[in-house]
Amino acid sequence: MQVLVTGGTGYIGSHTIVELINHGYDVVCVDDFSNSKPIVLDNLKKITGKDINFYELNVCDKEKLRKVFKENKIDAVIHFAGFKAVGESVAKPLMYYRNNLDSTITLLEVMNEFKVKKIVFSSSATVYGDPEILPIPETAKLHTTNPYGSTKLYIEEILKDVYISDNDYSIAILRYFNPIGAHPSGLLGEDPSDIPNNLMPYIVKVANHELPHLNVFGNDYDTKDGTGVRDYIHVIDLALGHISALEYIDKHKGIDYYNLGTGKGYSVLEMVSAFSDVNKVSVPYRITARRDGDIATCYADTKKAKEILHWEAKYDLNEMVESAYNFAKKNSDKNE
Ligand code: UD1
Repeated sequence: MQVLVTGGTGYIGSHTIVELINHGYDVVCVDDFSNSKPIVLDNLKKITGKDINFYELNVCDKEKLRKVFKENKIDAVIHFAGFKAVGESVAKPLMYYRNNLDSTITLLEVMNEFKVKKIVFSSSATVYGDPEILPIPETAKLHTTNPYGSTKLYIEEILKDVYISDNDYSIAILRYFNPIGAHPSGLLGEDPSDIPNNLMPYIVKVANHELPHLNVFGNDYDTKDGTGVRDYIHVIDLALGHISALEYIDKHKGIDYYNLGTGKGYSVLEMVSAFSDVNKVSVPYRITARRDGDIATCYADTKKAKEILHWEAKYDLNEMVESAYNFAKKNSDKNE
């Protein structure tokens, strides 16, 4: 089975390509390197022993995308490509709507032309907004608090309408909780070029003395220690969730939604102490004001993915924080 992976050199895309190859899939990867680096392709080869069939393109470019479908025999698509920074999406909403919606519509049009009707879409727990129920089931009310989240929700709606128009489609929408961690080789991981927005890459940079201290955004939430609680999932578990979803949609038509999380919630301070203890490094922090738009607690109800996709997260928190730091150490060595 040949699988097209859009955004394949990104953080989650690259780990998913490793697992696809490990599971015997033939991969075609496209990316425009807007938030990743070409070295990822070399590292994928080092890990898998395979040359990656790669096209440098923006998924909004219909002609280039058509060429990919013409030159290959694609059976299914995993669609990761998209902008993902919440703060930037608030400042530049049109850029987010243009890129994330246009690329998805273009992809779906080209898939339709080539009669490819199997797609796994990279959505986010952000579509649950501030959740009313915990753990959050897939049936929870959907609402978003920023343009990035809205692009995810609108794409979910577009996919639903595509399915309604043609019941031959098989669509899995995966709502990720908080992916962290890295490949054990230290060759793949999360590598933000700017100051990170998310917790784990920020902690890593503090541990590496690239930033002076972590700002903990509020300690007056209604949680165990007052800091925000999230469901952190190892990126390899997340990648494996895509393999399970692909296996499922290969055999079942329809559209469905799955949470990919561990079902466990850890606070910011628990993350800091797990990271320091496991990696034997200090992570100085200061309590600061709450970040606009943040919620207190978010963790997944994982039953549906377990029952239907036969998938569940296996890695524990120690493995997540250890692999995250291992990647950072190897990569800061390279930069020296
Ligand atoms: C964020 C996005 C979400 C996106 C997800 C991708 C926001 C509001 N939400 O989720 O839409 O899908 O990333 O992984 O940005 N924290 C600190 N200090 C920091 C960074 C974070 O205390 O420097 C805290 C936050 O307040 C939160 C927790 O750490 O309680 C996790 O934050 P983060 O990693 O940014 O993820 P989310 O906010 O859950």
